[in-house]
Amino acid sequence: MRTDTPQTIYRKDYTPPSYLVDTVELGFDLDPARTIVANRMTMRRNPDSAQREIELYGENLELVALRMNGNTLSEKDYRIEGSLLTIPDTPEEVTLEIETICVPEQNTTLSGLYTSNGSFYTQCEAEGFRAITYFPDRPDVMAVFTVMLRADKEKYPVLLSNGNLVEEGELGDGRHYAKWEDPFRKPSYLFALVAARLVCQEETFRLKDGRDALLQVWVEEGNLDKTDYAMQSLKNSIRWDEERWNLELDLDRFMIVAVGDFNMGAMENKGLNIFNTKFVLANPRVATDIDFQGIEAVVGHEYFHNWTGNRVTCRDWFQLSLKEGLTVFRDQEFSADMIGTESGRAVGRIDQVRTLRQAQFPEDAGPMAHPVRPDSFVEINNFYTVTVYEKGAEVVRMYQTLLGREGFRKGMDLYFERHDGQAVTCDDFRRAMADASGRDLSLFERWYSQAGTPVVRAETRYDEVDKTYTITLFQSCPPTPGQTSKFPFHIPIAVGLLGADGRDMPLIIGGKDAGPTTVLELTEPEQSFVFENVQEQPTPSILRDFSAPIILDFNYGDADLLHLFSHDSDAVNRWEAGQRLAMGRLLKLTGEAGVGAPLMLDDTFLLALGKMLSDEALDPAFREQALLLPSEGMVAEQIEVVNPMSIHLARQFMRANIGARLRTELLAQYQANQTPGEYSPDALSAGKRALKNLCLAYLTAAQDEEGLQLAQQQFDEAGNMTDRVAALSALIHARAPGAEAALQRFYDEFEDEALVIDKWFMLQASAATTDVGAVRSLMRHPAFNLRNPNRARSLISSFCAGNPVQFHAPDGSGYAFWAEQVITLDALNPQVASRLARAMDRWRRYTPELQEHMKKALQQVAGQQRLSNDVREVVGKALAN
Ligand code: TRP
Ligand code: ZN
Repeated sequence: MRTDTPQTIYRKDYTPPSYLVDTVELGFDLDPARTIVANRMTMRRNPDSAQREIELYGENLELVALRMNGNTLSEKDYRIEGSLLTIPDTPEEVTLEIETICVPEQNTTLSGLYTSNGSFYTQCEAEGFRAITYFPDRPDVMAVFTVMLRADKEKYPVLLSNGNLVEEGELGDGRHYAKWEDPFRKPSYLFALVAARLVCQEETFRLKDGRDALLQVWVEEGNLDKTDYAMQSLKNSIRWDEERWNLELDLDRFMIVAVGDFNMGAMENKGLNIFNTKFVLANPRVATDIDFQGIEAVVGHEYFHNWTGNRVTCRDWFQLSLKEGLTVFRDQEFSADMIGTESGRAVGRIDQVRTLRQAQFPEDAGPMAHPVRPDSFVEINNFYTVTVYEKGAEVVRMYQTLLGREGFRKGMDLYFERHDGQAVTCDDFRRAMADASGRDLSLFERWYSQAGTPVVRAETRYDEVDKTYTITLFQSCPPTPGQTSKFPFHIPIAVGLLGADGRDMPLIIGGKDAGPTTVLELTEPEQSFVFENVQEQPTPSILRDFSAPIILDFNYGDADLLHLFSHDSDAVNRWEAGQRLAMGRLLKLTGEAGVGAPLMLDDTFLLALGKMLSDEALDPAFREQALLLPSEGMVAEQIEVVNPMSIHLARQFMRANIGARLRTELLAQYQANQTPGEYSPDALSAGKRALKNLCLAYLTAAQDEEGLQLAQQQFDEAGNMTDRVAALSALIHARAPGAEAALQRFYDEFEDEALVIDKWFMLQASAATTDVGAVRSLMRHPAFNLRNPNRARSLISSFCAGNPVQFHAPDGSGYAFWAEQVITLDALNPQVASRLARAMDRWRRYTPELQEHMKKALQQVAGQQRLSNDVREVVGKALAN
């Protein structure tokens, strides 16, 4: 917690480390109130550095002893300024021995060494290792670690760290020890230890080269009935990385540990991944289809980091997307390959597009906008963003689109061949892609350096005489903080042309056959592409498979959209056409909502929806996506002056209208998509449940008598959490008479399942019927706990970021609540507080009255004397001009 003005760190100021570390031996005497850490490291001067001082970082540490080459250093031999410890005039080769003390039980930040439910865990990315010992805590310093853990055997029977267990035994006094060696050099952010009372599911697994690896999933007692899916996902991940990328597990042992108090999803520590319980624990009783999906993706993500992140790591934190964008791309491809069908892949892609539009585009258009490779930051923890992760993954995907799958694979192979064991940059990755393919990717660099979402406007012209069809593309990119004007991007735009019969026309460009879909490469501000031998006026399908993270501005008429919605062979654009049809109507209704005139929805649109809903040739999962309306947040992004209530009313009207007028079809599909028998989270069954539950949501939104009965019945009889929670949600949102009793029964049945109780809080916090007063009383519920990030997010963040009507209450009470919670949380856990702080990012887009209240709340937070760098950066940027 600082009171001084925070420092901005710039990418251009990078200098290599003055000293390199070869080996680190760590000794831990674990005690929640007073843990002693002994660190012996061998260092040598870095030939690439002109600097002659040793620089170590340390935070919240009591320094007990510091020895250099056997001699104790006294306070005049070194300087400590803030978190930097400098030892001047040091020899070429140095052995440093450092003894420090930290207090894990008082560490509420969940960064560094902390306790959760009485056991020890660590989280070191990005800069948590410095809260464990003094160290050159930067990712370009890679060392071999040996770790000795000592702790009470009764309380902490399990002692884990990275790599291989080489020794364990008793110490007397009821204490025991375990010694771990990690054979691979790694940066300090990948260090981890666990000392806990845990049990595991384990299995040996045969790797491609014939070696056997021991796989373990560690959880608290009582949770062993929820580890199967994580274990299965781990095995699938290992297999997939071997098959698709020829990348093998390099350790004899791979462990996953689940912990209830965790700031993010999971962490890729070498050989010892530590996970938020949310992304490990699942069985049909407590987890939904979405939860199962999340586990597969996150288990894959962390496992894939072993190559993209650990074996090849980042030179500095500005390069974060080098590992995160690439690893998200890899986990997306993994999930798609696990489904295995074309339509399954498309549904996954649609989800990715939704995330981009719902979260990344707004970030790109707001005060925290930053390039995929940022130029500066105050607090690196604020840059684990949708831009670095999801837009970063889109950037990686664009290489594959431009180079083809084979070309991209060659680039990946070259990347590993060149950089295994190194700490590198995004430029190194791009160079590997360019060199392996022989392509000029110099313009492509702008995806890394320029923030903001490019807008591509398209104009088309059909020449009936020449039988040519010309698409002209114009690109631009709005200004973002610190970047007023932008250079053109290198944008792959996948295009197809539909004939009047709905079929793809064969494409001919420059006399050459270009298949049903071709990738146009836009590199100039304006470029025209001519299709030849086009026999009739086509309907263009532009940006197929969402081939670039851009906003496509094309003046589609309803007739075109209806044509694409019924026929486009590209599932993403088929879905997109439906979204455009819905968005047009939502915007119109929003303008009319509250004015007094009755709202109306046209038959054409409803007819198209009804046809889609009942088209049993299509995957249920796809139909669900096609029927899901753009969220209130997405509508808000399209409007100059946002009034959340009118958006809510418009969307609610539309939902109720769909429910009433498509009643017969909805009831029929509700019945047709039941999944009787034993629950399975596979994509087909999950898709059926999703469609069925969307039907239920529409019916209940219309207050349909039979729909409400079905919801109550489904809640009463549900054999799995997906159906149970969907029914409960329908009852709550429809304010059904049984809603209160159902909530109570749900609580009583799942009282002992923390992750389910999170759902219970979240459902209530995000219901438009829950006002800020109700949220405050939920905070007084005995099950509420501000210190547990999952729980805090399930109530507070769900309300501030997921309940727009109530959060934006006209009297500003939602914002006052926000300010209060950000301030309280900041004193406990700056990372969680700072994420909550971002709920106000888009404050300048609301009505003047709301803006006034929002500004006051922001100023109240900014005016606090004691504030973390995390929150100060976020609110400071929000208030800046
Ligand atoms: N590297 C992790 C991942 O993407 C995420 C991460 C970064 C993290 N910092 C963290 C997780 C802090 C927990 C806490 O997989
Ligand atoms: Zn990651």
